[in-house]
Amino acid sequence: MAKLKGLLLAGGTGSRLRPLTYTGAKQLIPVANRPILFYAVDALVAAGVEEIGVIVGDTRREVEAALGDGSQFDAHLTYIPQSEPLGLAHAVKTARSFLGTSPFLMFLGDNLLRGGLTRLATRFMTGGFAAAILLTEVKDPTQFGVAVVEDGRVVRLVEKPKDPPSNLALVGAYCFGPTIHHAIDRLEPSWRGEYEITDAIQTLIDQNLSVDATLVEGWWKDTGRPEDVLEANRLVLEDIENQIDGTVDDESHLEGRVIVGLGAQVIRSTIRGPVSIAAGARIQDSYVGPYTSIGQGVLISHTEIENSVVLTDSKISAVNGRIDQSLIGRGVTVSGVQTRPRAVHLILGDQSRIDL
Ligand code: G1P
Repeated sequence: MAKLKGLLLAGGTGSRLRPLTYTGAKQLIPVANRPILFYAVDALVAAGVEEIGVIVGDTRREVEAALGDGSQFDAHLTYIPQSEPLGLAHAVKTARSFLGTSPFLMFLGDNLLRGGLTRLATRFMTGGFAAAILLTEVKDPTQFGVAVVEDGRVVRLVEKPKDPPSNLALVGAYCFGPTIHHAIDRLEPSWRGEYEITDAIQTLIDQNLSVDATLVEGWWKDTGRPEDVLEANRLVLEDIENQIDGTVDDESHLEGRVIVGLGAQVIRSTIRGPVSIAAGARIQDSYVGPYTSIGQGVLISHTEIENSVVLTDSKISAVNGRIDQSLIGRGVTVSGVQTRPRAVHLILGDQSRIDL
């Protein structure tokens, strides 16, 4: 069989992650100081994929600037603009000339999989299947594509069922042979106006073609909402090792696993890992607690923060009380009021969220 190509979906509007996604692609939001999309490219490359088509939308320029030609990942990337986000099957259709008749592995660029894509790809490439999907048990199957599996083969698939036939959800990773293109050609839009890949796979099953199912090993996280980004950050930080490339003064205490990037400074502060502090950040007279990622060039001063993600170049100083469970964007200023009246002053962008 021809070599497996990759199809990475990096379009989409990221509406549930506003306001961060007004100025940036959702797939480039970092966890443990690395864009989510980078983990996706790594997973494809680890599964043996070299040629990757990247489906891009309105945030094309930003995604291209971050991923480049793919050489930093030992991959070759081709950018494929999608005119409108009309669904996963539409994305495949858009990539038709890139894919040709090759088998391919499609992965959603805002998904993170601890166990990677290698097992899915290997089973597909050696099993003679028309398609292979990854499944995981979920609490609320109505939010996903849902599969019914008998003897390791998928017998039925439904997208966002009102009355779920199982609790096995499709995670955002799929392998296909070229027959999927014929199935996609015959699709009608679903009730939500999208061309659903779930429906295209059901067409394969209706034609008695065999569709393999593999259960996810380890965790899977779709990072569509702020709380998902924070959880993904926690999960990824669980796996980090100590690495101190920046400077930590004698009056600071580092506990647990901590990354301090090049040129970053920790001054008179306590850092309790797992914590990632990116290059050029400065932490002074502060406490940074577990499951926190501090972005490049960020300043944290006289503040306590934990369980949070702070993107690049923000300044947080003299905040009263501890910042917890927070996702803070780029170039944000948060400062405690030292003078009376101790009122709260807010200049918040559209669709910001603040709990006081
Ligand atoms: C898409 C798929 C769905 C799958 C989900 C995984 O849903 O249509 O079958 O379970 O991704 O994240 P969407 O993100 O478009 O709602």
